Amino acid sequence: MKTDLSNRYDIEKLITSFYDKVKTDSTIGYIFNDVVKVNWQKHLPVMFNFWENALFYTGNYTGDTMNIHRHLNHITPLSKEHFKQWEKLFTETVDELFEGPNAELAKQRAVSISTVMQIKIVA
Ligand code: HEM
Repeated sequence: MKTDLSNRYDIEKLITSFYDKVKTDSTIGYIFNDVVKVNWQKHLPVMFNFWENALFYTGNYTGDTMNIHRHLNHITPLSKEHFKQWEKLFTETVDELFEGPNAELAKQRAVSISTVMQIKIVA
């Protein structure tokens, strides 16, 4: 039986699985692997903090997500298809691993941040 997302350990499991999908995805993988050549050892803990803060208000993420993606969009154009695929992979990963109010909240937050990002950056 699946349980709800309830602590940092669950977030680590979710986000690690999500980026495992991202890395091998034929629509968005190249942005992480070839364009930015992401240092995963550095990037994953930042993402754990981001999601812990987004769901549990821990205050341990203070980055400027919008500007980072605005900059990324200058290096390589981000399209609606890229965001759609990002959202699909995120939603799929949550549904595979968790079930409950926080799992629903995580999917809602992801889509709403992604929507704002697209409006500010792509549209
Ligand atoms: C087309 C969709 C997206 C692409 C291709 C993308 C790609 C990237 C890349 C390449 C980085 C930089 C990693 C590094 O510097 O090592 C990054 C950072 C990040 N992304 Fe995204 N991203 C996307 C959408 C999103 C969305 C929707 C969210 C939030 C819900 C998000 C949250 C973040 C965060 C929190 C960081 C770390 C920023 C920091 O260093 O403070 N991304 N993203």
